[in-house]
Amino acid sequence: MRLPPRVTMVEVGPRDGLQNEATSVPTATKVALIEALADAGLRVIEAGAFVSPRWVPQMADTAAVLDGLRPRPGVRWPVLVPNLKGLEAARAAKVEEIAVFGAASETFSQKNINCSIAESLDRFREVARAALAAGMRVRGYISCVLGCPYEGPIAPAAVVPVARDLLAMGCTEISLGDTIGVGTPGRAQALIDDVAAVVPRERLAVHFHDTYGQALANILACLERGVAVVDSSVAGLGGCPYAKGASGNVASEDVRYMLGGLGIETGVDLDALAAAGRMICAALGRVPASKVAQALAAKRGA
Ligand code: HMG
Ligand code: MG
Repeated sequence: MRLPPRVTMVEVGPRDGLQNEATSVPTATKVALIEALADAGLRVIEAGAFVSPRWVPQMADTAAVLDGLRPRPGVRWPVLVPNLKGLEAARAAKVEEIAVFGAASETFSQKNINCSIAESLDRFREVARAALAAGMRVRGYISCVLGCPYEGPIAPAAVVPVARDLLAMGCTEISLGDTIGVGTPGRAQALIDDVAAVVPRERLAVHFHDTYGQALANILACLERGVAVVDSSVAGLGGCPYAKGASGNVASEDVRYMLGGLGIETGVDLDALAAAGRMICAALGRVPASKVAQALAAKRGA
């Protein structure tokens, strides 16, 4: 089994983790979370989304969150942008990196961003052109790469053309999202192999939700296929407002623990990461969903 010596952990908790929270999380709490994650050694932390506040109210203070962050050389704070209006807001906030987000399922695309896949790609092309011209880096997400809450299983053949288009419009990285966490390792590997025919493996990231408890197994399977960028969310926070029943993202603590055990470098301090998870969970009034965080807490209490 050949595994990458180093993996970039992309922390999506402050965005994917919090976007689903029903009650408004104070801006200062979001800022404190992001700062704690950066202190833990994470170098890519998704800080928010410039989306419609009517669609996702929790992300309405993204500009204020970014404004509250202390500049740190070498740390990236990407934000989600669905259209030119979102890009305008990102530019006003002096964002250096954005992510456009499409889907491999027509129904999910309609529910999530209110347009077809083809329309979304036309929109993203304009957004990417303007963002690249402004010197920004652009990531491309594809949701529902293995299954859709509305359409059921999704075949790699539906993912490949979207990935090809995102790459062609200038995305530096394509993140493959198992939005509802239905994937299993064999299907995940087959997907990577098919997508790798159009996108170099080193430009792929994986984004697993843990609904069926398969996320770590899927990540390991994808590492075996040459992927070295992994999205995760501290304390396993998250879900998608337009994917009913989807549980949180794979927990960053669990990913970090597995990678550490495999001798894979991440630059992330597990104890500091777990402390960040405890902090946000205390603010939300819950316990971390991460098994590793729970085990570390039990050990601390022992
Ligand atoms: P729409 O209603 O079709 O947009 O929504 P519109 O252009 O017709 O505009 C309607 C209203 O929204 C107008 O305001 C616009 O100004 C406003 P009004 O005149 O009615 O007051 N508006 C905006 N406001 C702020 N920022 C903007 C913006 N754009 C329009 N950028 C739209 C289309 C895309 C805006 C909407 O559907 C939307 O915001 N969707 C976001 C959904 C979302 O954030 N989902 C979660 C993130 S995706 C995810 O979690 C999956 C991922 O984690 C990977 C995975 O797990 O698979 C990435
Ligand atoms: Mg997600």
